[in-house]
Amino acid sequence: MAEAFPPQAYPQLLVGLGAPDDAAVYQLNNEQAIIATADFFPPVVDEAYDFGAIAAANALSDVYAMGGEPLFALNLAALPEDFPPEIAAEIFRGGAEKVREAGAVIVGGHTVTDKEPKYGLSVTGMVHPHKLITKGGARPGDQLILTKPLGLGVMTTANKRGQIQPEHLQAATEVMKRLNRAASRAAQAAQAHALTDITGYSLLGHAHEMAHLSNAQFELEYAALPWLPGARQYAEAWIFPGGAGRNAEFYGRWVRWGRALTDWEKQLLFDPQTSGGLLMAVAPEAVEVALNELSAAGELGWVIGAVSAGGGELLIR
Ligand code: CO
Ligand code: CO
Ligand code: CO
Repeated sequence: MAEAFPPQAYPQLLVGLGAPDDAAVYQLNNEQAIIATADFFPPVVDEAYDFGAIAAANALSDVYAMGGEPLFALNLAALPEDFPPEIAAEIFRGGAEKVREAGAVIVGGHTVTDKEPKYGLSVTGMVHPHKLITKGGARPGDQLILTKPLGLGVMTTANKRGQIQPEHLQAATEVMKRLNRAASRAAQAAQAHALTDITGYSLLGHAHEMAHLSNAQFELEYAALPWLPGARQYAEAWIFPGGAGRNAEFYGRWVRWGRALTDWEKQLLFDPQTSGGLLMAVAPEAVEVALNELSAAGELGWVIGAVSAGGGELLIR
């Protein structure tokens, strides 16, 4: 599809299909560029309100992953013919309250009939063209900061199989509902060189994309990775979603294992995340700025590795 739209024919398009990123970016003038993205998926938790809020936080995240702020959103929904209207209303309410928390507004949407319910948003955001942060700017020497704990795929899978402990589900739900707004502002404050959000392609899949587009190698410290409570326990019981295996098969070719890990510990690095955190590459002297900004917002960040010279490889230390 990219061939139909040669980049040189669309000079205002700062980010499009030619250099895939978290969202498309289209420059309007010297001060303003609009950000466009859409995301929707089937329920990841049983609570309708929480599902709506998670789907909205996940869709908004791609605007934050470009360093921008959301302006407005459209509901995208697919609902079974006989779907209880009060449950549909709860999904939409969860989405609406999350959009309002983000300082944006829902301005419309579209619903179709489908066997399996799905919900999400199309989001339009804004960024100053000079403040746009893509995936491709990480430099050797940069430190890598992650802003949410990992393990969301195994947690939602354990939930679907009725094997999750309630306190673990609650912790995962709170993390998935959290906006990446403070994380994005921390990246801006630290003048991050590269930024993305960790979603369906897993930590290693998204880290590879960033490393590849930055022409660099990412060295990740296994012992520094933050895990949700229960995540390692479910992974050890091999409660992985199908996407983990597909991610391992595809992205495994770029991974070098610099330390001994069990199969489940390796597979956990390929666990698809829903509404995961941001991964940012910042200059060493800016790490404290990012972490201070996060803690001022009541959030956490973890330094999980560093950038070195390379061509998209991932080294797990
Ligand atoms: Co993304
Ligand atoms: Co997305
Ligand atoms: Co990005």
